[in-house]
Parts: sequence; C-alpha cells; structure tokens
Amino acid sequence: MNTQHELEVALGDRRYPIRIGRGLLDQPGALAALVTGRHALVLTDVNVAPHYLAPVQAALRGKQVQTCVLPPGEQEKTLARFAEVMAVLAGMGASRDTTVLALGGGVVGDLAGFAAACWMRGVRFVQLPTTLLAMVDSAVGGKTAVDLPQGKNLVGAFHQPSAVLADVATLDTLPDRELRAGLAEVVKYGALGDAGFFAWLEDQAEALLAREPAALAEAIARCCAHKAAIVARDETEQGERMLLNLGHTFGHAIETEQGYGGLLHGEAVAVGMVLAARLSAELGRAPWPDAARLAALLERLGLPVALPPGLAPDALLDRMRLDKKAVSGALRLVLWRGIGQAEVVDGVTDEAILAVLDA
Ligand SMILES: NC(=O)c1ccc[n+]([C@@H]2O[C@H](COP(=O)([O-])OP(=O)(O)OC[C@H]3O[C@@H](n4cnc5c(N)ncnc54)[C@H](O)[C@@H]3O)[C@@H](O)[C@H]2O)c1
Repeated sequence: MNTQHELEVALGDRRYPIRIGRGLLDQPGALAALVTGRHALVLTDVNVAPHYLAPVQAALRGKQVQTCVLPPGEQEKTLARFAEVMAVLAGMGASRDTTVLALGGGVVGDLAGFAAACWMRGVRFVQLPTTLLAMVDSAVGGKTAVDLPQGKNLVGAFHQPSAVLADVATLDTLPDRELRAGLAEVVKYGALGDAGFFAWLEDQAEALLAREPAALAEAIARCCAHKAAIVARDETEQGERMLLNLGHTFGHAIETEQGYGGLLHGEAVAVGMVLAARLSAELGRAPWPDAARLAALLERLGLPVALPPGLAPDALLDRMRLDKKAVSGALRLVLWRGIGQAEVVDGVTDEAILAVLDA
C-alpha cells in the first residue's frame, strides 16, 4: 500500500489539492508556496503547538506571521473565541491577501475557516489537519462554523480552503481515544456509500488501530476521495451532501445535551450511526444484520455504540429539532438501507425516534 496520495477537490472552475503523506509539514518550500500574500495567521491549540508549530513558523519566515494558540476542545469553538481571532487579525493589520492556516483538529479547522470566511468578507485559508477526523472529514469541503449553547455549528459559512496538507506523521502523537473518534467518521464513508470500503475496514481494523502508516494513508485517501466527489456535486448541501451527516442528527443532540464536554464528536457520531441504523431497521428500511454488522465494527474500533447514561430521550429529541437539516421545524433524518446505502427521509414520527432513544 502507498503512503503518499494526492487528490483534488473540483468545484466548477475552482479547485484545490489535498496532499496526504508523512513529513509534509517538514517541507518548508511546499508550505510557503501556499501563503501568497504578506500576512499569515496560524491558528492552533495548546496540544498541537508544542509538536508542530515550529516547522510551520519556520516555513513562513519572511512573512508577517501571527500565531493564535487556543485552549483545546469543542468548548472553545465559540463566538467568543471567534471574536478573539478577529481582534488578532485587526491587531496585525491583516490585509485582503492574508492567509489563515488551521493547524490542528476539526475545532481549530472550523474556527479558523469561519474566521477566514468573515475577515474582510473572505480571505485564503489552508487546512493543516492533525487529527484523523480532520484529515478524513472536517478539513475537506469548506464547512466552517462555531457552536452556540443551543446547538452545534449553528453559526458558520461555506468557505473552501486553498489547500489541504494532511501530514500523517502528526497522528503519531494523537491520543488513542482521538484516533478512534476519527475512525468513526472513516466508518461513516463505508456505511453511507461504499460497501467495498466497509469490508476493507473490517479487514484492516487492527492495522488501523495499530496506526500502520500505509493503512492509515489509504483510509484517509479513500475518505477524502469520497468527500471530494460528493462536495463537487453538492457544495452547499442541497441534496446528496446531507448523506455525510449519517449519525450526526443523533450525535449532535448528544454532544449539545452533554454541554460539549461528554462524548467526543466522533464518538457521538458512532452512537448516532448505530441509532440511525436501528431506527432504519425498525422502520423496515434496512436489514437488521447490517445494523448489527455496523455496531460490531464500531465496537471493534473501540467506539461507544449505546447512548451514555443520564440523557433523557425527550430532551434529545428537542435538540434534534434544531438540526440544520430540519425544514420548517420538521425533522429530516439521514437513514439507511444497509451497508453502503444512506438516504434522506422526512416524516419519521416522534414515537419511532423516541422508541429508539428509549431502547
Ligand atoms: N467542517 C466539517 O465539515 C466538519 C466535519 C466533521 C467534524 N467537524 C467538527 O470537527 C470537530 C471535531 O474535530 P476533532 O475530532 O479533530 O477534535 P479537536 O479539534 O478537538 O481535536 C481533538 C483533540 O486532539 C488534540 N490534537 C489534535 N491534533 C493532535 C496531535 N497531532 N497530537 C496530539 N494531540 C492532538 C486537540 O488538541 C484536541 O484536544 C467538531 O467540532 C466537529 O463539529 C467539522
């Protein structure tokens, strides 16, 4: 298996590269080439900075560079942190040709991307993802956002990066729990649209957990190829892109209800996918053995497959109503026809959802 991959996201006449491989952050020329103007702002967090900030700063020597190192975690993906980043951009006199670099996981990527979307109505940004989840999902496709106490990602914008550089060597320092959370989003691609990839994951589960470089790089490349293809067909989520939210309506409700301090995003998505699969089977839309196969793979990958204790079904259902896919207050869910086939479904009754949340 190969450890270097190069793909492209093509959006009409706009396109940008996704480079995947070990050691990409240690190629100063390649990094510097992505910053075309005078100013650069590197956004990162305190866990990532000690490991990976130095090569990025070295590559940008000669530019006017500011660094913003945030505390880590979902609780920081807020309007208050967004305002801080705006103040840093203002303080450095950042002009229209500024590049914002997101060095970190999905939290840093979503926040940096939203800042880049808003500063002077939009400046360049580059994704340097350092978590598996960010490499396979959040760094690609241009969704940017911050959370509100009322719900996840409620304030945001579509703003595509100019490039994505996924240095797989950064995963060496990623805690096991975060690696597993990223594997949930990897499984999502197989579950929603690629039965062959799902079977490959069943085969490679141990290699992925052991962080075998070629297996990881291949998984990342296959996920990015899926995401790039879907985003190319539906950039602003009018239809097919919704399928990428398999498990997310349940998952976001769990995260919000726990105050963003309980399950990790990927863990909540794992539980959410199992609930969506179970609901689909209950409704007669998907085979029960497929739902069991999905739960079994997630469990092998060390992910939770049941709701954490203490969450009231009614409260979760209320949270689900604030989901961005809801239309005129009516819930719209991504459900399942079985391994490799997701679908968008309207009109699922509260009773059916509550029954699955209660089980
Ligand atoms: N925009 C999108 O399309 C999209 C898609 C999926 C998820 N998301 C968002 O992504 C976020 C989750 O991202 P995440 O799982 O990457 O979480 P995260 O950004 O919080 O990173 C997870 C943890 O790992 C640490 N970390 C990151 N890289 C590290 C490294 N290489 N070594 C050591 N520690 C490291 C971070 O400091 C943090 O503590 C959520 O907010 C979710 O909503 C966005």
